Amino acid sequence: MFEDDENYDMIFKILVIGDTGVGKSNLLLRYVKNEFAGDMRSTVGVEFGTKMMKIDGYEVKAQIWDTAGQERYRAITSAYYKGAKGVLIVYDITRKNTFDNVDKWLNDFKMKCDEDAAIIIVGNKSDLIQEREVSKEEATLKAQINHLAFFETSAKENENVHSAFFSLMQQVVKNYKNNEDDRFNGGVKGKTKRKKKLHS
Ligand code: GTP
Ligand code: MG
Repeated sequence: MFEDDENYDMIFKILVIGDTGVGKSNLLLRYVKNEFAGDMRSTVGVEFGTKMMKIDGYEVKAQIWDTAGQERYRAITSAYYKGAKGVLIVYDITRKNTFDNVDKWLNDFKMKCDEDAAIIIVGNKSDLIQEREVSKEEATLKAQINHLAFFETSAKENENVHSAFFSLMQQVVKNYKNNEDDRFNGGVKGKTKRKKKLHS
């Protein structure tokens, strides 16, 4: 799943986490290759894809790590959290327990991630309307409580997949620029810290 483009201004490590079978690998496959695999095998350890995009005039490269959701790989996959600047926490709208586990993934990630990492919640398989077990309302509420963005997607029907990844990347770039402003302003006498003002 490599894209062979080294012509970028910024590169960020992005993670896709969540329970097994929620569609993490297919979201990545859809985003990177615009494909879907109905018979994809469960991920072992960690897989990897890249995607180039233009944000605020910058060529941005996302280096996306697709992790295994199975419990037995947990120790391996959580070792990859460090250095990630963005994460999609994915659940399956047709399986309530995968939604309940979002809290577990969120806590797990927050314990190990960088302070400025951007996080979004993604409810996948929105095409399976008849089998829905998680309403949009309760997912929106969970996202609001945690101050996170929320998207429903279908990797199968290519619904909202690009929007979810792109919105995360926009937040990642924004966080990076804010931090850069802080570093710059902190090092120059007399300059006020702009980030504080923007966030107040
Ligand atoms: P692990 O690698 O075990 O953690 O699973 P995963 O989260 O990577 O799930 P994967 O992408 O392998 O998808 C699991 C199953 O769900 C596969 O049979 C997919 O075809 C199916 N699937 C994934 N996304 C969608 C979707 O948007 N809609 C529907 N209907 N099925 C999906
Ligand atoms: Mg997988």
